[in-house]
Amino acid sequence: MSELETPAADGFRSHRTERLELHALVMEHVEAVHDVYGDPATWSHLPQGRHATPQVTAAMIAKAQPSWHEYGLGYWSVLLKAPLPGCSLRPGEIIGTGGVSVVDGDVWNLGYRLTPGVWGRGLAGEIVREALACARAVAPGRPVVARVLSENTASRRVVERAGMVLVREETERSGPAAGRKRLIFSDRHLP
Ligand SMILES: CC(C)(COP(=O)(O)OP(=O)(O)OC[C@H]1O[C@@H](n2cnc3c(N)ncnc32)[C@H](O)[C@@H]1OP(=O)(O)O)[C@@H](O)C(=O)NCCC(=O)NCCS
Repeated sequence: MSELETPAADGFRSHRTERLELHALVMEHVEAVHDVYGDPATWSHLPQGRHATPQVTAAMIAKAQPSWHEYGLGYWSVLLKAPLPGCSLRPGEIIGTGGVSVVDGDVWNLGYRLTPGVWGRGLAGEIVREALACARAVAPGRPVVARVLSENTASRRVVERAGMVLVREETERSGPAAGRKRLIFSDRHLP
């Protein structure tokens, strides 16, 4: 059950869902988070995006910090609360990241990346539900947006199941996904 109704002393930085612990993503998590972001399997839809070194992951974590400081909410590291049936990962181990973060000031950007050993159990949906609830609690007027490459069926299923709607399609202009089609989902209809 969400702890939103009884916010912890540290605000939105630590949460528990049915099967997960969510803790604000901080630099101390870099090694474990790099294990996930450096795994080619978590980048099958964008191989160029893989984090080749822990320094790349550290830069990503550093970029994620202002959202916590300036907007009161940001990405979490995701840990298991208890063992999962048929899964060797242990409780307390970081299995990925997820949540919402403000990058450009206008919207919450929804993101998630989990180690393949836990896929297919609906854990991403659990993170997304908590993130949407927190975003609405912190800044209900700011839309939540997910930017999904069109071939990323798994990610698309996650946002659709969470009730997000497709608001736009665009072709990525620069960066590792340049030329690829990106689907923009939101928790509300956008102009
Ligand atoms: C996207 C992601 C977080 C989904 O996490 P999850 O907890 O497995 O999500 P779900 O259990 O709800 O499954 C969602 C979809 O993943 C796919 N999926 C499930 N198990 C899978 C597996 N073992 N292997 C490959 N895909 C799988 C299915 O398409 C599933 O949809 P379905 O249930 O309708 O068949 C995870 O696949 C991931 O980390 N992917 C790499 C990073 C990424 O793409 N991030 C999003 C960038 S926009």
